[in-house]
Amino acid sequence: MPVPHPRLHSFAEYEEAYRRSVENPEQFWAEVAEPFTWRRKWDTVLKADLVGGHNEWYSGAKLNITENCLDRHLATRGNKLALIWEPNDPKTRQIRYTYRELHQHVCQFANVLLNNGVEKGDRVCLYMPMIPQLAIAVLACARIGAVHSVIFAGFSATAIADRVNDAQATVVLTADGLNRGPKQIPVKRVVDEALENCPSVRRVIVVEHLGWPVQMREGRDVWYHEEAREAAKTCPAEEMDAEDMLFILYTSGSTGKPKGVVHTTAGYMVWADYTFRNVFQVQENDVYWCTADIGWVTGHSYLLYGPLLSGSTTLLFEGVPTYPDAGRFWEVIDKHGVNVFYTAPTAIRSLMATPLDNVLSYSLDSLRVLGTVGEPINEEAWHWYHTHVGKERCPVVDTWWQTETGGIMISALAGISPLRPTHAGQPLPGVQPVLLTQEGQEIQGNDEEGYLAIKFPWPGIIRTTYGDHERARQTYFGPYPGYYFTGDGARRDSTGLYRIIGRVDDVINVSGHRFGTAEIENAINQNAHVVESAVVGYPHDVKGQGIYAFVICREPVGKADAGHVEASIIETVVAEIGKIAKPDKIQIVSGLPKTRSGKIMRRILRKVAEGETTNLGDITTLLDPGVVEEIIQGKK
Ligand code: WTA
Repeated sequence: MPVPHPRLHSFAEYEEAYRRSVENPEQFWAEVAEPFTWRRKWDTVLKADLVGGHNEWYSGAKLNITENCLDRHLATRGNKLALIWEPNDPKTRQIRYTYRELHQHVCQFANVLLNNGVEKGDRVCLYMPMIPQLAIAVLACARIGAVHSVIFAGFSATAIADRVNDAQATVVLTADGLNRGPKQIPVKRVVDEALENCPSVRRVIVVEHLGWPVQMREGRDVWYHEEAREAAKTCPAEEMDAEDMLFILYTSGSTGKPKGVVHTTAGYMVWADYTFRNVFQVQENDVYWCTADIGWVTGHSYLLYGPLLSGSTTLLFEGVPTYPDAGRFWEVIDKHGVNVFYTAPTAIRSLMATPLDNVLSYSLDSLRVLGTVGEPINEEAWHWYHTHVGKERCPVVDTWWQTETGGIMISALAGISPLRPTHAGQPLPGVQPVLLTQEGQEIQGNDEEGYLAIKFPWPGIIRTTYGDHERARQTYFGPYPGYYFTGDGARRDSTGLYRIIGRVDDVINVSGHRFGTAEIENAINQNAHVVESAVVGYPHDVKGQGIYAFVICREPVGKADAGHVEASIIETVVAEIGKIAKPDKIQIVSGLPKTRSGKIMRRILRKVAEGETTNLGDITTLLDPGVVEEIIQGKK
C-alpha cells in the first residue's frame, strides 16, 4: 500500500505540523516527501545556506516530476479527468483529457522534442496560447529533462529575444496564433521577429491552433502535427537529480533587466504539492480552476504541477473574464461544476465594476473554496468576492507568495484557519517569516510592521538566477544576511495574522504583473523624443497599481504635440516589453527632482502621482526645488 500524502484537517493539526516543521525541519520534510515516486531516495534532506543562497533539498535523490504528475496516477486514476480545456469562444469545442490520455500526449510531445535533438539540460522557450498543448509541452520538457522557460504570450518580440538569449535556448515552441477575447494575435510572427536576434535557436516547433498561414523557415521551423505522426505515445522519463533544473521563469526586480528565476526538481515538486493540497483542501472528485496564465508562476505551480501532482482535475481556460461578456467566469464555473476557484484581485475588481446581474444570474452552487493571489486584495473586493461569488459560504484564501518562493508561503488553509479580509494570514508549515527594521533587526511581538523576510529555507526556495548566481545572492540574501528578503512590507496584526502591504523596492505590481520601474524607464528611454524618464506606481482602482511616467524630452513639447509624443512613447514601451507594461499616465516635464548627487527623489514623484501634493516632506536637498512646483502644476 503506498503511503498517503499527509493532509491537514484541522487547525490543531496545522499548529502541530507547524511546530514540527520548525523544531525538526529535516524529519518533517522527509515525511512529506516519502509518498512520492523516487528512483532513489535522498542522502540529505536539506543543505541550508541563507548567506550564499546555495540551498539544496533532497540532495542525492533521483526522480522525474512527470512520473509523479502522471505515471503514478495511472493505476488508480487512469480514467479520471486530468485536464479540461475551455476555449476562448464558449460556442467552440471544449477538450478533456483523462490522466491516461494526458500521459500519452506528454510522451508523444516528448518524443517530438527528442526527435528534434532536444537533450537533457537544454533550454526550451515556450511562447504559446493557453491551449492544452502548452500544458503538454511543459510536461514534455520535464519528461526528458529539458529546462522549460515559458514566456507569457503578451510579451513583445524584444522581450522574447532578451529571455531566449539569456537562457541560450536552442528550441522555441509556439503556435500559429492565439485568441484573447475578441482579438486574434499572430504569435508565430512575433516569434519570427524575436528570433532575428537569437543565434542560439536552431529549431522552432509550431502548434497549429487557429489554422492561420504562417511563414515556415526552411531548416528551422517544423509543424508539431507533422512531427507527431511519427512519434510514439510512450516515452521513458529521464532520471533527474533532485537539484537538476526544472524551469526558468523570468521576473522583474529593482534593476533594469528581468532575471531568470531557477527552480529545481525535487524541492519544487514537494512544495507545489504540499501547499496545493493543504491550502485549497481539494477533494478527490473536485474540479479545480486557476485562472492564471501558464506564463506566470501561478500557472506553473497551481494550474499545472500542484493539481497534477495531487491527482486533481484542473481546468485550463484560454479566454478572458470579459468575453463574450463579464459573466464568463461564472458561466464556466456553472458549466464545469468548478468546486475550487483561484483568481487575481484585479480580475475581481474589473468584474465588480460591471452590473451585478452578471454574477447573480449564475448559480455557482458547486463552489466550495475561493482563492486570490498576486497582489493585495482591498476590503471591498474581498467582500464582493465572498458575498456574491462565494455566497458567504466559501472561505476565501488570500495566498501570498512570489515567483522566487515556488509556492504559497502565507495563507489561510481553506475551512481550517481563521479568515480576516485583506490578510493573507499565517505561514504554511516550513515557512518562518519575520518582520525586520530597515537596519535588519527582527521586530518581536504583534501589531507591528516591517520588511518581510524568511529566516529558514523551505523546499521551494529560489535556487539561483540563471547564469548569474551573484545576482540572486545580492538580491535575496545580500540585503540581510541569514534571511531571504522578499521585497515586501507587511504588518502582523494583534493575533499574528500577516497582511502584505506591498513592495518596498522599485517593483510595481500592475494587475498582478511585476515590473521594475527601471525596466519600464529603460524602455521609455529608447524613444527618440526622450532624454530621461522616471516611473512610479500609483493607486489604480482596477489594476491595483497604475504606471505613471515622468518624461524629459529632447525638444520642448507644446500642448498640440503632447498627444503625439505620448502615443509614440507608448508604442515604444509596447515594442520593448509588451502591452501589459503600457504607462497609464505620461507627464512631460522639463526636469526631475534630483538630489545634488544626481539621485532622483522618487518619494516626491510617488506623492505627486498619488495626488498627495500638500505634504511632500523635505525638498531642500534638491538641486532645483523649482521643478517640483512645475511637476505639481502639470499633474495628470
Ligand atoms: C505580490 C505571484 C499581497 C507581492 C505569486 C509579491 C501579493 C509579488 C500577494 C510577487 C497577496 C503576491 N497579497 N501581495 N496575496 N501575492 N503578492 O512573483 O508584492 O508575480 O512580492 O508572484 O506579488 O509576484 P509574482
